[in-house]
Amino acid sequence: MKYNVLVLGSGGREHALCWKLSKSTLLGKLYCIPGNTGISDIAETFNEPDILNFSAIEDFCKSHDIHLIAVGKELPLVYGIKDYFKDSDILVFGPSKKAAQLEGSKIYTKNLLSKYNIPSADYATFFNKDDAVFYIQSVSKYPIVIKADGLAQGKGVVIATTEEEAVKSIIEMMEFKKFKEAGEKIVIEEFLVGRELSYQILVNNDQYYELMPSQDYKRAFYGNKGPNTGGMGNISPPPWVTEEILENVRKNISEKLIKALSKENNQYTGIMFIGLMIDKNNQPKVLEINVRFGDPETQVILPLLESDMLYIMLTIAKKERLPDSFRLEWNHGKTATCVVLASEGYPESYEIGKPIYGIENILDSDNCLCFHAGTKKVDGVLSTAGGRVLSIVGIGATTEESVKNAYDGTNKISFEGKTFRNDIGS
Ligand code: AMP
Ligand code: GLY
Repeated sequence: MKYNVLVLGSGGREHALCWKLSKSTLLGKLYCIPGNTGISDIAETFNEPDILNFSAIEDFCKSHDIHLIAVGKELPLVYGIKDYFKDSDILVFGPSKKAAQLEGSKIYTKNLLSKYNIPSADYATFFNKDDAVFYIQSVSKYPIVIKADGLAQGKGVVIATTEEEAVKSIIEMMEFKKFKEAGEKIVIEEFLVGRELSYQILVNNDQYYELMPSQDYKRAFYGNKGPNTGGMGNISPPPWVTEEILENVRKNISEKLIKALSKENNQYTGIMFIGLMIDKNNQPKVLEINVRFGDPETQVILPLLESDMLYIMLTIAKKERLPDSFRLEWNHGKTATCVVLASEGYPESYEIGKPIYGIENILDSDNCLCFHAGTKKVDGVLSTAGGRVLSIVGIGATTEESVKNAYDGTNKISFEGKTFRNDIGS
């Protein structure tokens, strides 16, 4: 049987997912809502319906004979798309609304981690501004981290270096409602020091499979300076990640977390992204949990994966067990590096609508891939349409080679205001 698949989302992550799914022998037709210009080369894309209008998505699925919905973005999961299709023949890859609280509520996650002794930063939760400000007066060690409880488009974390900054952030979130209801409750937590690692697992209730680890470059500018972004680049696997570190992560984090969710009767299915801080003794602590693939982690990991992603997604979405002999197959020894090309000014204000030149030079290369994020055709001309425009992915036998291939690709593309970090992989 062939399966028709609908992917929800429009970023580089969704382009990489569509690219991977398009290679599956199980694939019938591929659709994406809303998609982007790159995705429209491999899938049929539609601007409507809104991906949060579940009844309209259901109508779309029925009229296009969709078998599986693969959700790229977190919002449909946090709003309960899995539960909406619970009794339907249409399968959804991703966790239930209850399990998606792992991303939808930082307080839920911190309390769960604490209850099951899963290492994470020390924290306190606050439900009103006065209590939070009062607490801050007792803090003597800075920086301190202030987090909006709910989804804030990746902007809900503030690392405050002084009491004044901390109080200002609390007031912005809780009094001036900078992130609307997402900031009505907050977490204040200890600032962790170490190296950040993106650790993703495919979870099928009590079974879980580790994806290749990767390292995100979150800050906007060279040398990890500047504001936090959605991610300016990524490498997989990071050369510094040893088997000892991964063993510590399995023993202290992922295995405990899967057991904890089961004990809470909150079984998880789908992809789980665990953002970790690894300290100087190689011990991990959880920074955050997301209930979907990382972006741009997906752009580096899927090109290294040889297994059929559609087979895995279908099996998990059908609530079937993967065979005991099942293992993820990797393009062994290969490494991948992603360099994000952004619009000048990102993540703050930037202009769009700039023509993009040179993309045809990297379309068909084995060692370099180009995934679209913020692109649009304007009068037939490929143009910028967002902050993060393209993900250029180099593949190579070593990190140095994949870095070189990624930057060779990057240099073939031009548009006005093209901005990127030139230290990805260093
Ligand atoms: P989050 O949205 O929770 O991923 O946070 C965004 C970024 O803030 C993380 O990738 C880290 O770089 C940083 N961050 C979050 N929590 C902490 C913490 N407790 N200590 C240090 N950095 C943190
Ligand atoms: N790159 C981090 C994330 O997707 O949350």
